[in-house]
Amino acid sequence: MIPFAMVSLHFVNLFSLCFSLLPCLTVSGPILKHTVFPNFTASHLSFLDYNGDFLTSNNGTFTASIRASVVTSSFSTYYFSIIHKRSETIIWTANRDRPISNSAELRLTVNGIFITDDSGKFTIWSTPPFDSPVGALQLLETGNLVLVDNRNASLWESFNYPTDTIVMGQHLLVGKSLVASAADANFSMGNYRLSVSSEDLIMQWMGQTYWKMSMQANAYKFSNNPVSYMEINSTGLNLYGDDGTLVIQVLLNASSLKIAKMRPEGRFTIMSFMREEWVEEVVAPVEDCRIPMICGKLGLCQTTRAVCSCPSEFYRSYGSNAGCVPADNSLSLPAACDSNGNGLELNSTLVSYMKLDDGMSYFANDLVDPVKHGVNVSICQDICSRNCYCLGIFHGNFSGSCYLLQNYLGSIYHRIDQDLIGYIKTSSTSSPKISNKKDNSFPRTAMVLIPLFGFFLLVTILILTFLRLCKTRPSKVAVGRNLDRWSSSSSSPELNIITLPGLPIRFDFQELISATENFKTQIGSGGFGTVYRGTMPDETVVAVKKITNLGTRGKKEFLTETAIIGSIRHVNLVRLKGFCIQGQLRFLVYEYMNKGSLERLLFGTGPVLKWQERLNIALGTAKGLAYLHRECHHKIIHCDIKPDNILLHGERSVKISDFGLSKLLDHQKSSKLLTTMRGTRGYIAPEWLTSYGITDKSDVYSFGMVLLEIVNGRRNWSLLTQTSETSKSGSNGPSSSSSLETRSIFFPAMALKMHKQKRYLELVDQRLEEKVTSEEVEKLVRVALCCVQIVPELRPTMAEVVSMLENRLPPGEPMVDALNFL
Ligand SMILES: *[C@@H]1O[C@H](CO)[C@@H](O)[C@H](O)[C@H]1NC(C)=O
Ligand SMILES: *[C@@H]1O[C@H](CO)[C@@H](O)[C@H](O)[C@H]1NC(C)=O
Ligand SMILES: *[C@@H]1O[C@H](CO)[C@@H](O)[C@H](O)[C@H]1NC(C)=O
Ligand SMILES: *[C@@H]1O[C@H](CO)[C@@H](O)[C@H](O)[C@H]1NC(C)=O
Ligand SMILES: *[C@@H]1O[C@H](CO)[C@@H](O)[C@H](O)[C@H]1NC(C)=O
Ligand SMILES: *[C@@H]1O[C@H](CO)[C@@H](O)[C@H](O)[C@H]1NC(C)=O
Ligand SMILES: *[C@@H]1O[C@H](CO)[C@@H](O)[C@H](O)[C@H]1NC(C)=O
Ligand SMILES: *[C@@H]1O[C@H](CO)[C@@H](O)[C@H](O)[C@H]1NC(C)=O
Ligand SMILES: *[C@@H]1O[C@H](CO)[C@@H](O)[C@H](O)[C@H]1NC(C)=O
Repeated sequence: MIPFAMVSLHFVNLFSLCFSLLPCLTVSGPILKHTVFPNFTASHLSFLDYNGDFLTSNNGTFTASIRASVVTSSFSTYYFSIIHKRSETIIWTANRDRPISNSAELRLTVNGIFITDDSGKFTIWSTPPFDSPVGALQLLETGNLVLVDNRNASLWESFNYPTDTIVMGQHLLVGKSLVASAADANFSMGNYRLSVSSEDLIMQWMGQTYWKMSMQANAYKFSNNPVSYMEINSTGLNLYGDDGTLVIQVLLNASSLKIAKMRPEGRFTIMSFMREEWVEEVVAPVEDCRIPMICGKLGLCQTTRAVCSCPSEFYRSYGSNAGCVPADNSLSLPAACDSNGNGLELNSTLVSYMKLDDGMSYFANDLVDPVKHGVNVSICQDICSRNCYCLGIFHGNFSGSCYLLQNYLGSIYHRIDQDLIGYIKTSSTSSPKISNKKDNSFPRTAMVLIPLFGFFLLVTILILTFLRLCKTRPSKVAVGRNLDRWSSSSSSPELNIITLPGLPIRFDFQELISATENFKTQIGSGGFGTVYRGTMPDETVVAVKKITNLGTRGKKEFLTETAIIGSIRHVNLVRLKGFCIQGQLRFLVYEYMNKGSLERLLFGTGPVLKWQERLNIALGTAKGLAYLHRECHHKIIHCDIKPDNILLHGERSVKISDFGLSKLLDHQKSSKLLTTMRGTRGYIAPEWLTSYGITDKSDVYSFGMVLLEIVNGRRNWSLLTQTSETSKSGSNGPSSSSSLETRSIFFPAMALKMHKQKRYLELVDQRLEEKVTSEEVEKLVRVALCCVQIVPELRPTMAEVVSMLENRLPPGEPMVDALNFL
């Protein structure tokens, strides 16, 4: 009987919850619409309540929005974009080359859409002129933004102007391209593009092809018809002819939402949205060394590890032309002429060729035909010398094949299974003088490699095992900045060439010093070290954590763990962007979260967090933790969940920081550290102090404690000024001053007491001015109490907590016996 009563109670709760949430969603200010009509205007500021969203598709899958690129803090980084709402992923951008400010306006008139600058005078972006007046602007459920005339005929569709992403149902026509952004936070067009040609889907850099879809092992060719368009649907990536016949297909696992994106680093990826996250199904090219500029101009990429170095007789150059240049200063690499033959015309007597070491190749060699077969190397060089766009050759001594390197030089890579030999065209400069003795002495790679080989093997195996066990997607490697794979010129030679799969960007100490202005602005400190604010040269703001409590663990462990942390990506986990090793010092560079920690927002003196914001924070934190704990032998236990480690950014973004760090410490040190850590005591599970093992359920306990603080708005241990036992429920706020007493309150115990008496509203933060229903509070309090039960097995998993918070599971019934310890 009791279970039945409970079930129906939940049922009622769910219903009342749904209704009580409605008023919260329709807050003051403009309302999100599916369609807008001419004479409509929007700016980020005028739709601040929606984080700049001003239009939504019918089911809310996509929104049209004016918002900033993710990680910058400067004012003029706003873009008019279409966003996949659940993942906050941008699928289209109008003004990618010309960001606007948060007050710049978008106007819809009968002539189209216009985005003007701050002054309103200059048009930054607009739709082309139309023959008939615009009737409305609609965002379709597919993610297509459509301008229609008064008879509902389409005038313009965003689907016809893709940026770097296409979604299901969108056609990429032959001759059209997806152009990757210049960088993660800079949506300007970069140099990598994915294009549909009449035979294939190809990736190109500076006009040079480096990947073809038909090369994929799982690509099936069905016909020889010319290709007319590319499309992804729920089961595959397809190229079609103009009569709709299938030409080439790559089959994918069925999923209801997929996107294909050309990423800034030069990779093409197809992702499925499953269980609230993007899962990569196709990543191409798989090998890092197949990315044309991975090591800069003429940089040598080691196939197995994507480590960069220079070929012998070359040394590394910096600046705009980063890459490798001849060590002999009297030689330089000529620039190619343009397509009309204009440019530096080389006087052939000044041209010479530098031979590269054996066993090297160029990304384009596999994908283009040689210009000549059966010629000797002098003839091949001659062909190159007579063409100003030719910058070098690869010649097959055995086959006599002659390949030309044209227009732009990319990176070269090690490859032993072929007989091609490269020759790079150089021209003599007038002042033959050899200097730069120091830089010439690029470390002899082989000598450094041998002692490290065993270590690499070990680490690689470890990481591969980890990745396999976790059943994650293909290892993602940060290749955003080419030169990050370079050995650094710092004083620790044995680490010079280390780059592991998954290892994020390695920063020079000097870079961090200038980014943080010599560690000027401290933005936090915790058990693992001090955090400083920094600004990178590309204006990206970062948080630089100086690790101080490292114990005895060495560089190898540090690199291994950093590679693991760096490979973990989730919207609710703070992203590790890079690291730095300088002598004994260790730094981790994280994305910057501009709102600071939950600790500050909850207990600080700023504006009171709204109830809806609190729900969002609780849910985001739970999802981040659930991701860390997801079924996998190497699940990551955070060990230090507390409000200080829950960070916020912008209007809605919630992320957990410091995950994986406990592994950076040796065990002895870590348990000592964790128990002495200031402010952590209230959150650590009882089993920490006993001899019980620490499991993911210890994090669940900490989460429960944090959840109670989110409800109450003050620390679980706090001094409370209270009226001594007055009437029952409903008395909010101490009105009579007669019987005031101050006492120390342990809130979880009070929560348990109020839970038994169902007096939930008395637990809510008194500063909240909005109406909060008892049912909403009950849900959070019950979830929290379930999480803090003394027996770890009784606590729910974080995945279950997420379901409860999202109303997909009823909140559990905490066992009073397991809570009396409170
Ligand atoms: C938009 O505004 C212009 C002038 O401000 C007016 O002439 C026009 O009728 C308006 N159009 C609509 C659809 O309201
Ligand atoms: C939109 O939602 C409705 C009702 O939930 C559903 O029937 C429909 O299939 C959804 N449409 C799309 C395109 O997801
Ligand atoms: C245009 O489409 C909308 C909804 O799709 C519909 O309500 C409206 O009646 C249509 N107008 C015309 C003229 O067909
Ligand atoms: C996806 O496209 C392929 C090729 O046209 C087709 O065979 C398949 O049925 C499509 N899948 C769905 C779910 O429509
Ligand atoms: C498809 O799903 C199966 C089972 O979940 C998985 O083993 C396989 O790797 C997936 N294939 C792709 C291309 O993601
Ligand atoms: C090439 O340079 C040499 C020496 O500078 C000069 O004598 C010769 O005339 C030049 N040839 C051409 C074709 O310009
Ligand atoms: C290359 O071939 C040409 C003509 O076939 C010949 O004159 C020349 O001597 C050859 N060069 C070498 C290095 O073999
Ligand atoms: C090319 O092949 C010839 C004979 O097969 C050999 O003598 C010569 O050394 C080779 N050249 C290079 C650069 O390997
Ligand atoms: C964005 O990238 C473009 C193209 O590489 C570059 O010209 C521009 O300066 C970059 N903008 C910023 C803010 O870094």
